[in-house]
Amino acid sequence: MSSVMVMVLVIISLFIPAVRPSQDLWTLECLPTVGIVAETTVINCNFKDIQEIKIVAVSLKKIPENMPIFEYDGKNSGDPRFSLKNPLGPSLQISETTFSDEGEYLYRVVTDKGAKKVQLKITITAKYKNIFSSTWPKDVTHGGPVDLYCNATDGYPAGFIHWFDRSETNWTMNSDLTKTTKDTNGLKSVALSSKLTFKSINLDLAPFRCIVLNSKYMQDGESTLQITSARDDSYKESPITSNTTHIVAGVMVIGSLIVGLLCALLIFRKKKVQHGRRPSAHPILSHEFEKTAQDDPESCNTS
Ligand SMILES: *[C@@H]1O[C@H](CO)[C@@H](O)[C@H](O)[C@H]1NC(C)=O
Ligand SMILES: *[C@@H]1O[C@H](CO)[C@@H](O)[C@H](O)[C@H]1NC(C)=O
Repeated sequence: MSSVMVMVLVIISLFIPAVRPSQDLWTLECLPTVGIVAETTVINCNFKDIQEIKIVAVSLKKIPENMPIFEYDGKNSGDPRFSLKNPLGPSLQISETTFSDEGEYLYRVVTDKGAKKVQLKITITAKYKNIFSSTWPKDVTHGGPVDLYCNATDGYPAGFIHWFDRSETNWTMNSDLTKTTKDTNGLKSVALSSKLTFKSINLDLAPFRCIVLNSKYMQDGESTLQITSARDDSYKESPITSNTTHIVAGVMVIGSLIVGLLCALLIFRKKKVQHGRRPSAHPILSHEFEKTAQDDPESCNTS
């Protein structure tokens, strides 16, 4: 009887190690993260090959430090900017991200199905600001030389500036990008300045647009550069103005010609009436004709 019990126990104990590893097949995965300075960074993590799992505790250590920067065991402790995005999942988030958050981390998650460790990497970028485009010289002449500038500051790491004209033609190849790196008390930043030089500018290409991209080629912002001719003010506007003047002048000339012609016709008719009709034969009619013919030349003169 007892030997049968022992046999059963032995068989069960043999099965247990065989079952345990299959439960341990789940994994913890975290995606590489790019955070933006001053914004909230989400570190996306998830459990693979398991459905029902409950987080008991987590701890996040920055390599090579020994003390965890963040811990959770029902409540948060450590750097208050760190938290679990949602206590049901292993994703993390950092509010008000700083450059010092960049680096490699060791993340340990304890669950009701066991514990897992994973290494994760966070890189930090800063968005380019103060995007400003300008020309040198300030006063541009159609057909004259000009340098177009596009500047941006406070970004990190070094990014790019691309140029386009009004018809979306890419002028970037002709431009020259200068990157100036600054480091003030561990606060890294890069100032970008792109110069697009024209020996002879065709102002029909304006406005130009410069696009500021971060190191991952994602757009941080853009600036539109309107260029109007300084010396020759009539450029572009002149065809419209001169056209209107011509039309107005033409209308006036034709108008006065018609008025003149009508007056001449009336005077001519008046004379014809005086000569053709005997005043004694139709005194009343003649008088009327005379009156109208006299009135009209007067209105011709006043007009
Ligand atoms: C514009 O030209 C630059 C440099 O040749 C290139 O890197 C960029 O991809 C081009 N952009 C577009 C939208 O074609
Ligand atoms: C843009 O940057 C260049 C190079 O740093 C500088 O010479 C120029 O004055 C800047 N332009 C403006 C408008 O800030």
